[in-house]
Amino acid sequence: MNSSNLVIALTKGRILEETLPLFQQADIVPEEDVFKSRKLLFDTNQDNVKLMVIRGSDVPTYVEFGSADMGVAGKDLILEYGSEGFYEPLDLQIAACRLMTAEPVNPGPMSDCLKVATKFTHIAKKYFAEQGKQIELIKLNGALELAPSLGLADAIVDIVDTGKTLEANNLEPKELIANISARVIVNKASMKIKNAIIRQILGRLRDAVESN
Ligand code: PRP
Repeated sequence: MNSSNLVIALTKGRILEETLPLFQQADIVPEEDVFKSRKLLFDTNQDNVKLMVIRGSDVPTYVEFGSADMGVAGKDLILEYGSEGFYEPLDLQIAACRLMTAEPVNPGPMSDCLKVATKFTHIAKKYFAEQGKQIELIKLNGALELAPSLGLADAIVDIVDTGKTLEANNLEPKELIANISARVIVNKASMKIKNAIIRQILGRLRDAVESN
């Protein structure tokens, strides 16, 4: 960890389109177009602040181990990773969606042990254990919505935003596991060592969130 620079890991993809305007309001602006560049690390208008743009599932890892001092990640990925390794001081209230169970609109015969396909295996395991339900977990990384119609699973656990993906695949949302939004996370050592600048950035981001 470089004590003179502050590195912030941002989640690429749709969430980034909502993150950058908040950062702009907080006066942190990348020096080039992050959507066009193939770079992963960007200088900003602030001499000592750099932005990384990486997969959301990697943001908690970079922040926990201090390669990034701060990060922006979806609460879904934070819950899946486990939130003990860093602080989570701010809800940016963007990229809002729900983490839900979903099942076929017209279910076939159920397996004795509910088969659940998801990429959120830790969350699903914990959720169904709390419900006292025994399940068989099937780890998939994408196209989860196909799993029930192909007989691979009885249910899925996935992100629901508009619900259109479920509907298009003859699935319906069932149980809400968690309301999701993007959160700022902070490395524990950085919070001590770089306290002044981190508090300043958090304050500006908080003002930006409140003014929206
Ligand atoms: C998420 C999720 C669903 C979709 C839900 O995928 O996995 O496929 O969005 O959105 P909807 O309710 O508005 O239809 P995303 O596009 O984020 O990509 P991912 O598959 O990489 O998670």
